[in-house]
Amino acid sequence: MTEALLNPMDPADDPLPDTIPGQDLFSKFDALIAEREALLDSGVRDPFGLVMEKVLSPTLAIVKGKETILLGTYNYMGMTFDPDVIDAGKRALDEFGSGTTGSRVLNGTYQGHRECEDALKDFYGTEHAMVFSTGYQANLGLMSTIAGKEDYIILDADSHASIYDGCALGNAQIVRFRHNSVEDLDRRLGRLPAEGGRLVVLEGVYSMLGDIAPLAEMVKVAKKHKAMVVVDEAHGMGFFGANGRGVFEEAGVEDQVDFVVGTFSKSVGTVGGFIVSNHPKFEVLRLVCRPYVFTASLPPSVVATAATSIRKLKYAGNKRAHLWENSKRLHLGLRELGFELATPTAQSAIIAVLLPDQDTTVRMWQALLELGVYVNMARPPATPAGMYLLRCSLCADHSSEQVGEIIAKFEAAGRAMGVIS
Ligand SMILES: Cc1ncc(COP(=O)(O)O)c(C=O)c1O
Repeated sequence: MTEALLNPMDPADDPLPDTIPGQDLFSKFDALIAEREALLDSGVRDPFGLVMEKVLSPTLAIVKGKETILLGTYNYMGMTFDPDVIDAGKRALDEFGSGTTGSRVLNGTYQGHRECEDALKDFYGTEHAMVFSTGYQANLGLMSTIAGKEDYIILDADSHASIYDGCALGNAQIVRFRHNSVEDLDRRLGRLPAEGGRLVVLEGVYSMLGDIAPLAEMVKVAKKHKAMVVVDEAHGMGFFGANGRGVFEEAGVEDQVDFVVGTFSKSVGTVGGFIVSNHPKFEVLRLVCRPYVFTASLPPSVVATAATSIRKLKYAGNKRAHLWENSKRLHLGLRELGFELATPTAQSAIIAVLLPDQDTTVRMWQALLELGVYVNMARPPATPAGMYLLRCSLCADHSSEQVGEIIAKFEAAGRAMGVIS
């Protein structure tokens, strides 16, 4: 029994005087709520509340009763409907049930989790692989665990939210450098005191603008300053490099990168996250990494689909080539129409169309949807300050006809909205 119940006259039970008004904790969101209501009152659909009623394939879904081309998924390699992947998931569901109901360190490591880690080790050619429940948690875990309060995390200003949140969860000292600037990285590393460890955090592909990092130069600078390096290959895995490992493979820096973080929610086509590494002490993370220990492990069907997909991605050279073709063609088509794009040429499977303000962006998004094309709308804080954009992400399964159709629909929507002339 609590102290207060034992003593009914405890002052802790007295109501606060009327002079203290109390506050609705939601009031801090009033401006956002008003902005959203004004937008919806103007007659546009909610770009963050779309429902896929049926998914027909990696590139087609039914939205509001209408067949719609998907140009805003991360299904780069089209693995979500791969027959081997689906079979593996069904078998695991039958043989192991719907979930593990436990943490990886207790009852939540099944044979399938180990097989998935083996598939990752084989795919990346590393000694160690650790599977997390999401990529978000993999970043949260790595950033918050390996850098302590005497250490420094040096990160690109445009880093993904999961990297920033990992830094906020831990207590290392955080230093940001200008997006993709090798000089700024060098300068900031040069200013650090000699004491303390250093972790440089990079991404292969930056997901909002679709630009890639100059990894060869950046890793060289990091190593010159005796820093460890992690590369998040969320958007590079499957697509870049001869084996599909990511931009770091294509940049030829595999032997200098200490950790690769990745996700199953993009090219792999399911959900989950991972870290791979050759560090001899890597396995200790399984004991000390809170986002690994204090959460339930992935369901058996998910790790089975992930392992099957990863094994196939290694040999998906033809898909990689077709995805490049699609990405270059869409970039060129949109540029020729007069759209402002975030990169001068296609650098990845993400083509970001820059628009002047939120209102134009939402209207353009809606016009495309009504014409049967779904893209992602992105705005701050997901994008760099003041940037509104429509993010197109291509899939290896988009046919040439679909890419042609997408360009034609962008032209129609862009003219109707006055975005292009
Ligand atoms: C760069 C980057 N890292 C990590 C993640 C998190 O991945 P997940 O969806 O598996 O949580 C994302 C997801 O969008 C991402 O873009």
